[in-house]
Amino acid sequence: MKVVNDYIDFEIIDTSNGMKYERWGNIYLLRPDPLVIWNNGDLSNKYHNINSIYHRSNKGGGYWEDLKTVPENWVISYHDMKFNLKKMGFKHTGLFPEQAINWNYIREKIKESKRDIKVLNLFAYTGGATIAAMMENAHVTHVDSSKGMVAWAKENVKLNHLDETKVRFIIDDVIKFVKREIRRNNKYDVIIMDPPSFGRGANGEVWDIEKDLFELITLCNELLSDKPLFMLVNSYSGLSPTVLFNVLKLTNQRKGNISIDEIGLPIKTNDLILPCGIYGRIDYE
Ligand SMILES: C[S@@+](CC[C@H](N)C(=O)[O-])C[C@H]1O[C@@H](n2cnc3c(N)ncnc32)[C@H](O)[C@@H]1O
Repeated sequence: MKVVNDYIDFEIIDTSNGMKYERWGNIYLLRPDPLVIWNNGDLSNKYHNINSIYHRSNKGGGYWEDLKTVPENWVISYHDMKFNLKKMGFKHTGLFPEQAINWNYIREKIKESKRDIKVLNLFAYTGGATIAAMMENAHVTHVDSSKGMVAWAKENVKLNHLDETKVRFIIDDVIKFVKREIRRNNKYDVIIMDPPSFGRGANGEVWDIEKDLFELITLCNELLSDKPLFMLVNSYSGLSPTVLFNVLKLTNQRKGNISIDEIGLPIKTNDLILPCGIYGRIDYE
């Protein structure tokens, strides 16, 4: 298990009964987390500086209840990277803090390579991995089907004062885009993806990780450059690490070195770790 221990602006303070209590800068949020199946008391009674609570609705979805003022958007940092946050539907804030494990790896590998690196970031959301790669001067093609998410990722690029000529934002279905890039004979040194369990392409195309992940990773092999660095697959969809290992092993056309691990975040009050999914990597050098 890889654990992120070096946030200043973020921490999980406590967890209980399907909820986690977190600090994001100076904003305190209480949000659902289905992995918290233990009981450690009623967090909404225990803590008195909660800014907002996300309540699940029986009909699906949910809503934020503000107990104190929450700005429309605010910023937190992880080392020298900055991210815009907003309270969004589906209990999101626009950032998955545990991804710092992947951001650190992306930055380290690109920096060590000492060459001009082209990155393809699929299911790229608000651009955490895009920012990490651009911090090391890589060229990034950022693909997501949601206009809103791409707009947010653009804000994050601006916030970090990165060179906007080095990023290409694409609003498209991932599989469609990858097939088009194969036809155009475009190549990438790094491919990163964070596929959800289910999703929709820009024109309603259905993404289902169980049906589509194997094909997507197989196709991505055709986009690798002559000197690829790595392929990184993150998953928060309950995919077993062994299943991801098997998929990577069977699609590993360039015979890279496969590694798989869980990622997690520490819980401050009781020294527990909250698991936050897995990653699988193929390193080619
Ligand atoms: C789990 S989030 C990725 C999290 C992100 N990598 C991070 O760490 O910040 C999944 C993203 O995939 C996008 N998405 C879902 N289905 C898609 C599809 N078929 N094609 C392109 N993007 C899709 C969603 O809009 C969403 O932004």
